[in-house]
Amino acid sequence: MRETLDAARNSGKRIGFVPTMGALHAGHIALVERARADNDIVVVSIFVNPTQFNDPSDLKNYPRTPEADARMLEAAHCDILFLPEVVEMYPETATGNSQTIQLNGLDEVMEGRFRPGHFNGVVNIVSRLFNVIGECRAYFGEKDFQQLAVVRRMTHELSLPVEIVGCPIIRESDGLAMSSRNVRLTPEERITAPFIYKTLQKVKQLWAGDNADEVKRLVEEAFAAQPEFKLDYFEIADRDTLQPATQRRAVACIAVFLGKVRLIDNILLD
Ligand code: PAJ
Repeated sequence: MRETLDAARNSGKRIGFVPTMGALHAGHIALVERARADNDIVVVSIFVNPTQFNDPSDLKNYPRTPEADARMLEAAHCDILFLPEVVEMYPETATGNSQTIQLNGLDEVMEGRFRPGHFNGVVNIVSRLFNVIGECRAYFGEKDFQQLAVVRRMTHELSLPVEIVGCPIIRESDGLAMSSRNVRLTPEERITAPFIYKTLQKVKQLWAGDNADEVKRLVEEAFAAQPEFKLDYFEIADRDTLQPATQRRAVACIAVFLGKVRLIDNILLD
């Protein structure tokens, strides 16, 4: 990989990189298309990263569809599919211990609170992938808003030669944010799932810049009245620090179980 990409860079080509865990959908493909438009060579990695799963059954049940993924990537004119094995990404330790990186509290709220160790695993694998791919533009979805902030921070902190590009959330026609985990919803749950985005749209209407507690209470009540959902958290956060929002320009983030499947979503508030 290094030799191929060094040769390309030496002949003046720009590399676009899209890291994924596979089970690809239109949200991933939008990142590939953006990378295609901005660069000469597009690399996509598929690696179900064991170190970022805090729940072993989530790792075990994570959908794996490599043949279908490869076909979608070919159709999207991806040049290189990188499919490393666990021992290649983590040669020495199964847990992949890494240097501690100061994330300024970005990893302590929301996902970080409810999925202990998750961002440590994300930083671990993304820094290893960036190390293999080298100088590039790397594309991440705003679907994982907190991950995007953590990856930006890590890249800055380690002075990596990577430009991070954030891309908007791609949704199903009924508003459900596309996710590899959506295939694990039962048909009944799939019908109920758009309630999450409908609630976020209401939040956007209600948000006045100073009423976070009131909005939070309304959202918690709305989910408590729907027995099929179990809310992990709903937060209105500052877009840069991810701490509680103090101004209008914020982001509302939610994580909720629908049956056995944990879904996340967010909406930008102005
Ligand atoms: P994965 O969940 O496969 O997502 C890969 C990329 O696709 C992430 O940047 C994610 O934000 C983006 N994405 C997923 N659904 C999207 C949607 N509906 N709209 C827009 N973008 C979407 O995120 C990961 O993998 C992993 O944590 C990874 C970064 C690969 C590290 O292991």
